Amino acid sequence: MNGKKTEPPKPRDLLARPWHDLRISVMDRCNFRCPYCMPQSVFHDDFAFLESGQRLEFSAIERVARISARLGVTKLRLTGGEPLLRPDLTALIHRLTALPGIDDVALTTNGVLLDRHLNTLHDAGLSRLTISLDSLDPVVFEHMSGGRDKLGAVLTAIDNAAKRGFPGGIKINAMIQRDVNEGDILPLVSRFRNTGITLRFIEFMDVGTRNHWRQSAVVPSAIILQRINALYPVEPLAPLYRGEVAQRYRFTDGGGEIGFISSVTAPFCGDCSRARLSSDGQIYTCLFATTGTDLRPALTSPDDEALEALLRRIWQGRADRYSEIRNPEPQPDSGERIEMYYIGG
Ligand code: GTP
Ligand code: 5AD
Ligand code: SF4
Ligand code: SF4
Repeated sequence: MNGKKTEPPKPRDLLARPWHDLRISVMDRCNFRCPYCMPQSVFHDDFAFLESGQRLEFSAIERVARISARLGVTKLRLTGGEPLLRPDLTALIHRLTALPGIDDVALTTNGVLLDRHLNTLHDAGLSRLTISLDSLDPVVFEHMSGGRDKLGAVLTAIDNAAKRGFPGGIKINAMIQRDVNEGDILPLVSRFRNTGITLRFIEFMDVGTRNHWRQSAVVPSAIILQRINALYPVEPLAPLYRGEVAQRYRFTDGGGEIGFISSVTAPFCGDCSRARLSSDGQIYTCLFATTGTDLRPALTSPDDEALEALLRRIWQGRADRYSEIRNPEPQPDSGERIEMYYIGG
């Protein structure tokens, strides 16, 4: 006996999946109104977003992350709405990157406010940066951002982020919708080939219930791949880790890599190791969940053991595999699914 306390085993869910990732939404508001996520008609000026007092404070977020790390989480991703609308976000990143067991802190942003924060984000230890960019065409961009004319600001931020460099790299997310921005597929590929930035195409997903999702608006990744391959030949790459969200390909001429996130045509629930924390302290074990668990009662007590036990129970009770069940036939709605703006994707 060496007198050391033995750590309990890391939890597995009901499908034997370990917990590795925590996606943390720090802000439900957004400065865009992408029609596929926050249509202006629903998310208008009178929409009841959370009040700032309802959002978890940084100390509570840090505590959930610290205890999640004890249960196996190594990766954190900050999301929104738009996470850079949260005042002093870099202070949170500082705290999260210092946590034992956390080796990767990433950020998903629409890029509008990014340029002014690049240096502080970098210096706070942010490992990876993902910027959403659905179109290079000003008219299409304006439509897809819900009338917000910020393409120039986003492109400047991307260029400056690339110059600044982030240790785990920079990615661009482009969500492709039929007859909306299909024309952007090849221009986006041309723009980001040979830049060191990884472009990923995302299939339009039936997240939430307010984004007018329909199967006919989905452009399957296989079609996008075919179009790209005809001009710039690519070959598949092996996954970097079990449960990787994107299927990766490399340009055969050495121009870098691209990815496809195909939740509709090729679901990846089998190894799903992600949980999501909303900005008001609900934890969800699937992007398509209808209910979460409110952590706030546990957060009002200083008892870390109780919070750890609660998180362990939540993970162990999980059997989510929404995208696999939905595929190939959409399922009847079993309730109000959470919305993307609230849980960050
Ligand atoms: P990496 O760690 O770089 O692979 O990040 P990521 O792709 O997990 O994060 P990002 O925020 O860039 O998300 C890209 C897209 O994948 C978004 O549309 C997310 O909603 C979607 N996505 C991420 N995780 C899941 C998931 O578990 N299930 C589904 N269906 N979609 C997901
Ligand atoms: N389907 C697919 N991707 C979506 N995103 C937002 N809503 C949807 C949806 N319904 C994307 C954004 C951003 C990422 C976090 O999720 O475009 O790139
Ligand atoms: Fe668009 Fe992202 Fe904002 Fe949703 S959260 S409206 S996808 S920028
Ligand atoms: Fe995980 Fe749910 Fe996405 Fe499947 S649909 S990969 S279970 S978050």
